[in-house]
Amino acid sequence: MGKLLQVAIDGPASAGKSTVAKLVAHKLNYIYCDTGAMYRAVTWAAIHDGIRLDDEKSLRVLLHSINIRFIPSATGQRVFVNKKEVTEEIRMPEISNNVSTVAAQVPVRKSLTDLQQEIANAGGIVMDGRDIGTTVLPDAEIKIFMVASVRERALRRYKENIEKGIQTPLEVLEQEIEERDRKDSTRTISPLSKAADAVQLDTTNLTIEQVVNKIMEIIEKKA
Ligand code: DC
Repeated sequence: MGKLLQVAIDGPASAGKSTVAKLVAHKLNYIYCDTGAMYRAVTWAAIHDGIRLDDEKSLRVLLHSINIRFIPSATGQRVFVNKKEVTEEIRMPEISNNVSTVAAQVPVRKSLTDLQQEIANAGGIVMDGRDIGTTVLPDAEIKIFMVASVRERALRRYKENIEKGIQTPLEVLEQEIEERDRKDSTRTISPLSKAADAVQLDTTNLTIEQVVNKIMEIIEKKA
């Protein structure tokens, strides 16, 4: 067996990161860590507790009082805040449209970055997010920056929503994606950006399988 690697997959919302990262982790028999789900779980907890989403002090208290856990399962990773399962609720539009605000707060980023680094220390890992290659795992052997057009990403989200019974017009999804890109890329702390040593992959016209194969090729070359 070769050396255990750290694989960092970053990129904007709905570029296909989590689907691809999950498959790559499965192929390598590595742990998969969805860092977006952590920011979503904190957002869920803040809304649940009625905390203002930009109130650093209250968020700091909240972070000390909650326990975010991930439990792998056959259908994907289940997310818990304390004893409450929030796997599905954290994907709802109310969370998607508020998570960028929470993710821009210093105590939240600090606390989740520490947690992510701890998880990565356990061994071979595929981690997806916005700042994995730049901030969380700057020494990762493999860094991928996945992009896709706004139209394509809105279409992907549209199809996912329909499957969940959520009806949001495509134009609205496009606007939401653009807004989230803007917030994620312009925040002062750890903004979404491509690490200098990351390989950029445009997935607009690629299937999931093609993207996974490209990443596996990059990994095999490195290993
Ligand atoms: O990947 P996602 O859509 O589930 O991420 C949700 C939000 O969390 C996204 O708008 C930005 C934020 N995020 C972040 O700031 N840093 C990360 N490493 C992962 C996600």
